[in-house]
Amino acid sequence: MDIQSLSKKSKAILSQSDNLDSLEEAQRSLLGKSGEITSKLKELGSLPPEERKSAGKELNILKNSLQEIYQARKLELRRIEADKKLQEDSIDVSLPGRQRKKGSIHPVTQTIAEISSFFTSKGFSVASGPEAESDYYNFEALNIPADHPAKDMHDTFYLDNGDLLRTHTSPVQVRVMEENEPPLRIICPGRVYRKDSDLTHTPMFHQIEGLLIEEDASFSQLKGLLEDFISDFFGSDTDIRFRPSYFPFTEPSAEVDIKWKKGWLEILGCGMVHPNVLEMAGIDSKKFTGFAFGLGPERIAMLKHDIPDLRAFFENDIRFIKQF
Ligand code: DAH
Repeated sequence: MDIQSLSKKSKAILSQSDNLDSLEEAQRSLLGKSGEITSKLKELGSLPPEERKSAGKELNILKNSLQEIYQARKLELRRIEADKKLQEDSIDVSLPGRQRKKGSIHPVTQTIAEISSFFTSKGFSVASGPEAESDYYNFEALNIPADHPAKDMHDTFYLDNGDLLRTHTSPVQVRVMEENEPPLRIICPGRVYRKDSDLTHTPMFHQIEGLLIEEDASFSQLKGLLEDFISDFFGSDTDIRFRPSYFPFTEPSAEVDIKWKKGWLEILGCGMVHPNVLEMAGIDSKKFTGFAFGLGPERIAMLKHDIPDLRAFFENDIRFIKQF
């Protein structure tokens, strides 16, 4: 029996196993029930007695050392496999996180907030009304009867039920006057809609309506307030002009333009509230007078930030929006 070469061969099989499965397999083929070493041990009985003793001793030593090698290799392979798993599953805590883009307040919203804060500082409170409005509030109650030519200028979006998308924030004046007793000072920022689209018009845009009703409100008071607002907002060296105009719901009426580039840009309409409008809303026009104005925040933001195309406000191109 050549135990020496058996020892060399079987030690190599065990220590060269490169994974737990092949190690188990090798262990079984050597030390299992019908393994090579086990069968050799069984054969001892058939050896002549003088050989049997030394062969038995050597075989048992081999068997023990194979068992040790097997155990040691098993631990080593387990550790290798565990390390490999850790490597694969590991989280690299040093990787930079995914950055979320930070939003900013939309320039129109910023402008509305800034304008509102000027007027609230002058005692105006903020009111609101529906965007889907009835013909009565949008036109009729503002002294624009069904056959009035001014109605055509509004390019109205009509709804299937006969209502419409409000074309201006002026209907909120009526709703406020119906529900409150004068004296009144309100502003109403909100969305309005018109079938219109070019450099200075979009089908949806914003207005800020202002209304003041008192016992002796005057046009000079209106003019002073708006001049204050413009110099507060654009700076006191801003060129402005009041231009006589016409609105069915105010008499007299005016528009205000601001010098922009080489020309003038209209930013608001205003006037003394027409007595018909006061009376229809249940306010005694003998006792109270009032003034109203309607500002265009997009136009105002265009001027302030020198933006050439109003449509940019609503395309929501992140490169545009994040500049503000
Ligand atoms: N509603 C007008 C428009 O959309 C703007 C306006 C003009 C509002 C005069 C007013 C006003 O309150 O007095 O063109």
